[in-house]
Amino acid sequence: MNEQISTIKLEYLGKIKAATSLAELDQIYLALFGKAGIITLLPKEFPKMEKAQLASIVPAFNQLKIDLNSAVESKRSEVREMSYASLSQESVDLSTPITLPLRTGYHHPLMVFEEEIKELFKKIGFQQFGAPNIDTDYYNFEVLNIPAEHPARDLWDTLYIDKSGLKERNENWILRTHTSNAQVRIMKQYKTPVRMMVIDRCFRYENLDARHEHTFDQFELVFVDKGLSMAHLQWLSEYFLKHFLGEETKVRLRPKYYPFVEPGVGIDGTCLFCKGKGCKICGGIGWLELGGAGMIHPSVLKNGGIDPKEYSGIAWGPGLERILMLKLGVEDLRVFRNGDIKFIQEKGVPAS
Ligand code: FA5
Repeated sequence: MNEQISTIKLEYLGKIKAATSLAELDQIYLALFGKAGIITLLPKEFPKMEKAQLASIVPAFNQLKIDLNSAVESKRSEVREMSYASLSQESVDLSTPITLPLRTGYHHPLMVFEEEIKELFKKIGFQQFGAPNIDTDYYNFEVLNIPAEHPARDLWDTLYIDKSGLKERNENWILRTHTSNAQVRIMKQYKTPVRMMVIDRCFRYENLDARHEHTFDQFELVFVDKGLSMAHLQWLSEYFLKHFLGEETKVRLRPKYYPFVEPGVGIDGTCLFCKGKGCKICGGIGWLELGGAGMIHPSVLKNGGIDPKEYSGIAWGPGLERILMLKLGVEDLRVFRNGDIKFIQEKGVPAS
């Protein structure tokens, strides 16, 4: 065994001396001290030996361990020193120009659409207004003729906020279901006549499909003046939809119930996928509902501090994604918010 110890020492001290990299030294260390390494396995022979033999072998073995370990360590420091020294010889010219291909970002098609709508309605005197995304059910429902427990609340699948974590517990907080939460705020804040628009997010606890998202955008218009009628609403709907979907687009107002308008309508546009013939996207009827609208209900005008005998009002709330689906030929609106970069590059506008 003493001879074996000397051979191992000679062989491995030679290997350590010849090593030129840390990786090589790691290999040597593993061959010696790893699970199946020579130094790890050697003591397994000791129980088979005589006590007298062991008296000289054990100290020689311990010395072997110490020598090989310290040889590896000092060679590691030497290799590190060498690589630092060679690095310090190198220099990098930071002034060399690097020509990497420039990656240009894209404006999201929804954002582009929003800006275009704002421009179009600015031209006819509408100003922008902002209302909270997280709101009380007072502004989202009550002031709009939808009191608590009223069945009309079922028209909106509402996301309520758990009150237990809130400081202010005397109100019911929700994620607004529509931009109509701006209506009474606008009326209270501005003197008549009023021409305001809100373009922003809404949230609903929806069953998601090609035409329903949990988060989507609405475009609310609040127009209050003397002598407004459904004819103005028809004109505004055509002004809006023909601009974006083409002059050939037909627009119809179809009776529909909303508690905060009287009369209330659904604004329909001809289905651009089938040109009004009927297809799976429009459910075979040739028309697509793009928004709700109507003449603002007298009690909502009163809630906004406006005399309904003197003034009348128009409100509408089309969904942006539904219109953009038609404009861009997109069959599933979930693509607008799923972060698909290819889609944004294809349908968005390069940000230069
Ligand atoms: C409303 O939200 C009313 N506030 C609209 C309104 C405003 C009526 C002013 C009268 C006066 P409705 O729930 O129908 O109505 O939604 C209006 C539009 O939002 C729909 O026509 C559709 O274009 C869009 N929309 C509604 N839910 C979703 C959804 N889950 N995903 C995508 N778009 C939606």
